[in-house]
Amino acid sequence: MRKLIVAFVFAVLPAFGLAAGGAGVPMDHMEPDHANKASLQRGVALFTNYCMGCHSMQYARYKRVANDLGIPEDLYEQNLIFTDAKIGELMKNSMKKDMAAGWFGAPPPDLTLEARLRGESWVYSYLRGFYKDDTRPTGVNNVVFPNVGMPHVLVSLQGLCGVKPNVGVPASVEPLSGNINNGELCPSYVSEGSMSEAEFDQAMYDLTNFLSYTADPVKLERERLGIFVLIFVAIFFVFAYLLNREYWKDVH
Ligand code: HEC
Repeated sequence: MRKLIVAFVFAVLPAFGLAAGGAGVPMDHMEPDHANKASLQRGVALFTNYCMGCHSMQYARYKRVANDLGIPEDLYEQNLIFTDAKIGELMKNSMKKDMAAGWFGAPPPDLTLEARLRGESWVYSYLRGFYKDDTRPTGVNNVVFPNVGMPHVLVSLQGLCGVKPNVGVPASVEPLSGNINNGELCPSYVSEGSMSEAEFDQAMYDLTNFLSYTADPVKLERERLGIFVLIFVAIFFVFAYLLNREYWKDVH
């Protein structure tokens, strides 16, 4: 029994390691859904338009992404490849790491495995966490990643928040007045963007969902196979049990 308990403790230990990732920064929870193809398609469009100029995705291939997300290859090639890359190539970009480090203070990292590294909730919160800060060279700072080198590239969509946004701050209702505190992400914008707060949250959900997919493109397939494996184990158990009973039948 003791051995069993020790084995169980070791089996659940890695889960605590995962939970520890990104501790200490404010975060809003994000639950990825790789079965939501429409969300992933909007995500890849956002990524290609707003992120790929700086960030590569060098462990993913255009063709694989197109197929997994249900986008016809010719449509993908026409609308989501801006270079002369072919559909079978890896999703690299041509930004030189050392030059980029000079421009931004740090090179934009490859984002294929970012959601694995930081977790989906971190990425979702980070993308919604920019605010105006004139002491920074880019004019913005981030509540999740203080003094980040990345500019607020989505300012035309979100607008620019004048104060620290309420990332990871739950909304609360004042008991006497009934006023809702922290109900919105940003209480005061310096400039407006083209999206409402709800639309921007949805767009960042889609973008994070796409980054979650690239970090683990076989998740759906794994879950589908997992069910068959469990069914197999359940059926196998019956035979193993009967065989075991047969073997031990005459031992007293
Ligand atoms: C103008 C170039 C540029 C663009 C465009 C850009 N980024 Fe960045 N990004 C950077 C730089 C530079 C860093 C590194 C910042 C640092 O380490 O201080 C960074 C860092 C990040 C990080 C954190 C990486 C880490 O350290 O874990 C994430 C996540 C990220 N970017 C996502 C995005 C997404 C999503 C988009 C598209 C909406 C995007 N970026 C567009 C330049 C860019």
